Amino acid sequence: MTSAERLHKVMAAAGYCSRRQAEQLIAAGRVTVDGRVAVIGEKVTPSTEILVDGRSLGDVQRRYYVLLHKPVGVVSTLSDPQGRQRVVDLVRDIPARLYPVGRLDLTTSGLLLLTNDGDLAQRLAHPRHEIDKTYLVRVRGHLDRQAVSRLEQGVRLEDGLTAPAKVAALRNSGSHCWFELTIHEGRNRQVRRMCESLGYPVSRLARIGYAFLTLDGLEPGAYRLLTDDEVARLKVL
Ligand code: URA
Repeated sequence: MTSAERLHKVMAAAGYCSRRQAEQLIAAGRVTVDGRVAVIGEKVTPSTEILVDGRSLGDVQRRYYVLLHKPVGVVSTLSDPQGRQRVVDLVRDIPARLYPVGRLDLTTSGLLLLTNDGDLAQRLAHPRHEIDKTYLVRVRGHLDRQAVSRLEQGVRLEDGLTAPAKVAALRNSGSHCWFELTIHEGRNRQVRRMCESLGYPVSRLARIGYAFLTLDGLEPGAYRLLTDDEVARLKVL
């Protein structure tokens, strides 16, 4: 929410209830804004304190945890000046404002988490937790032993040396090479820059793993909700 919006819309967007139910709650006098009883149709801003039966909207709203298979050509940002499709457009039928946990480039496909649980999103994105992210990479050329050991030991990029990465499942195919690269940092365009700096331009990139999560058969554009068990495991990473 960037400016004032109608209260019932904000309550619905928060995943608390439908717009109609929000209007009913407001009409019943159960909603307060900044300490006074709300009226139907009034507008609120992001700093307005909204309480339902005395409890903050943030405390009572349902949390959603979504695992999306992001297709190539969809942006991970919340707004796009060029009007391209956004990842949040692919999860429209979830009745909450979801935010991506980190980003994937426009031309990267694969596993992206989205949630309206700001605490967990922040935790997961924090470098301290060193969450493994595995990418399936296709580069031009055949990766030699020296390049593999450079990736494994750390590559010097303009923003510093990368942490050691893991290389697996290396195989050549024609003039290309496929491999899996696992890193736990999340710098901008990191995998592309690591490979490019060694002389191997990336021609395909897909994230296939995030901590213990995989794409497990989800088609590009499809998503699923995480199970309670998966959410609990993410919370203790
Ligand atoms: N590394 C990249 O270069 N791009 C991504 O989208 C993710 C990781």
